[in-house]
Amino acid sequence: MDKFIIDGNTRLVGEVEISGAKNAAIGLIPATLLINGITTLENVPNISDVNIACDILNELGAKVTWTGEHTLTVDARNITSTHAPLDKTSKFRASYYLLGALLGRCHDVEVGLPGGCNLGQRPIDQHIKGFESLGAKVEVAQGKIDATVSKLVGNSIYFDVVSVGATINLLLASVLAEGTTILDNVAKEPHIVDVANFLNSVGADIRGAGTDTIKINGVKELKGDHTYSVVPDQIETGTFMCAAVASKGNILIKNCIPEHMESLTAKLIEMGATVEVDCDTIHVTCDKELHPTNVKTLPYPGFPTDLQPQLGVCLALAQGTSIINESIWESRFQYTNELNKMGAKITAQGKTAVFEGVSKLSGAPVYATDLRAGAALLIAAAIADGKSEVYNIHYIDRGYEKIEDKFRKLGAKIERA
Ligand code: EPZ
Repeated sequence: MDKFIIDGNTRLVGEVEISGAKNAAIGLIPATLLINGITTLENVPNISDVNIACDILNELGAKVTWTGEHTLTVDARNITSTHAPLDKTSKFRASYYLLGALLGRCHDVEVGLPGGCNLGQRPIDQHIKGFESLGAKVEVAQGKIDATVSKLVGNSIYFDVVSVGATINLLLASVLAEGTTILDNVAKEPHIVDVANFLNSVGADIRGAGTDTIKINGVKELKGDHTYSVVPDQIETGTFMCAAVASKGNILIKNCIPEHMESLTAKLIEMGATVEVDCDTIHVTCDKELHPTNVKTLPYPGFPTDLQPQLGVCLALAQGTSIINESIWESRFQYTNELNKMGAKITAQGKTAVFEGVSKLSGAPVYATDLRAGAALLIAAAIADGKSEVYNIHYIDRGYEKIEDKFRKLGAKIERA
């Protein structure tokens, strides 16, 4: 079992380049199945979730090849199966995007119930409601989902909850449907807009992505022989912004989109950090005592739940009491037990955690419980007194490309063992 061994007491200083966004890439790769042709995706992060998605597409008959360090070419002209390998689809959450893509292209699909981080209940009722509104018959049994349709017909769908996954899945299912689909109360995250931009760039007719309502006029087919570049990763950007503040460091974050970071930027400035933005860079410095603050996670443009653990490390070191309300996931405070092993004082109950700031953390063996918890523990270990060992780093590899190299470039003493 791989682990990171980290010698702490490091002020993180230097430059870091942000990779393409995980949550966009794992929507874009299945989206290429909607094209009876060849698509090239650039700025694709080489992470395990992406590689599982590529393996699945290859098993469905597409030909997916890495034609560059961050470039994927997908030839989806010859889909030979619409039944995805269950052992692989249960390995990650975004396998659910195969539902929208294969329903849209082949009118038939079977996937295993999606896997992904254990953040509590993760229902897909809104996805299913949407597919049924377009005329599909959906069955969930024996750990898998079967959906079939003779013809997808556009319809108006109101989502009861704001869901990233359901929004992207219904985009995929409706671009080739007959007539117009209206999606209401949708998610507005940057990765939603990226998938919609990609589909429009290959001939789809989608309007309103990034707002509360998206309108899709179905088209007959999408064009191949197209190249698209994945948007920079909002969550990786935020991870390094928090690393700069928690370590009282000085980091220039390059190839990112400052507009996507406004909610976090506001919180870090409240805590006493200096954040300077330029067109595609963010410079974060912090050399003062951190002030406490309160945060409530919300759908975009609210504070992202996927940056809650990383900010939690900053709050654990702020002088005073801070509170986090986690409004999206039921159990996203497991990382606080691990931080408490490092000397933090955090009390978590249900969807609320109270942070009593401490002046420093101490090294310890800690266990990542999910992707973003893992990133938070890496930050904590880089600044803690003494040595730490971070276990279950396969979670981190799911969403961050070569993260130890990026931390090492900022001065961290980190080894993958
Ligand atoms: C996406 O998950 C991200 N994953 C998650 O990031 C992220 O935490 C989440 O959106 C919220 O931003 C991917 O993009 C692959 P949702 P998803 O559907 O799509 C409820 C990471 O670390 N809901 O937006 O699964 C649900 O229970 C991961 O990169 C229903 O009730 O999240 C939750 O409370 C972790 N019924 C809320 O909506 C549904 O059918 C938001 O879920 C769907 C969702």
